[in-house]
Amino acid sequence: MLLIDLSNKKAIVTGSTRGIGRSIGEFLARAGAQVVITGRDRRRAEEVAKEIEEAYGVKTLGLDLSMEDTQSIREFYEGVEKAWGGVDILVNNAGITRDKLFLRMSLEDWEEVLRVNLTGTFFLTSLVVKGMIKSRWGRIVNISSVVGFTGNVGQVNYSSTKSALLGFTKSLAKELASRNITVNAVAPGFIETDMTAGLSEDIKESYLKNIPLGRFGKPEDVAGLVVFLCSDYASYITGQVLHVNGGMY
Ligand code: NAI
Repeated sequence: MLLIDLSNKKAIVTGSTRGIGRSIGEFLARAGAQVVITGRDRRRAEEVAKEIEEAYGVKTLGLDLSMEDTQSIREFYEGVEKAWGGVDILVNNAGITRDKLFLRMSLEDWEEVLRVNLTGTFFLTSLVVKGMIKSRWGRIVNISSVVGFTGNVGQVNYSSTKSALLGFTKSLAKELASRNITVNAVAPGFIETDMTAGLSEDIKESYLKNIPLGRFGKPEDVAGLVVFLCSDYASYITGQVLHVNGGMY
């Protein structure tokens, strides 16, 4: 038997065509869960869903979802309900950066990041949670960031959303605890994905100096924790934030 068995569970992982989200999708599938893979491009989402289905022998769905657009979120979730009724697990992973020094940051830079990282997360969660309440079981995991704790030059918009997700997590955990739904956040440090690939070698070097474990994280370092939080072993953990950062914070 698998140590973590999610074989009767269905999950949505937002932004799961690549990076951390994809790895979370694969780990959930490995534990037996049915997984909805989402990305902005439907064809890509379908391809990744098929790859995961073939690799792990679970049912998957690949659907397009644009987190900045509430209509897209509504249509996406209608598609999930039509196919599977609802889901037991929601991993709010999709997130964007629009880095700029504060004095150059426009209102649009600010609003775009808030729409995707925060308002989109709020709206999708509000739709998904209704089914969890009916089935009296649910797991919600929000992907925050170390910069929501430390702040970071050029990331006033992004780090604000990642701190805000902690208030969201803690308040929602209190509201949903009596319904047997846990809500937790995971705060990754520096993880090697497309999001961090564009940083200059100098900046990467300076981050590395501050990581006691002496390496950058991999998507799997985050995915392992997320799967644990979705399992029955984590049924008494809610309203928490767990850090995955090699000791940098
Ligand atoms: P990534 O850029 O490699 O992947 C992002 C995923 O989100 C992709 O699947 C993309 O299709 C999707 N996405 C982007 N914009 C979207 C939108 N408007 N609507 C719907 N989906 C959209 O990013 P990565 O590194 O895998 O990050 C995943 C999460 O982890 C993000 O929330 C990020 O803020 C967070 N994080 C990442 C860290 C890192 O070092 N890579 C550190 C801390 C947190």
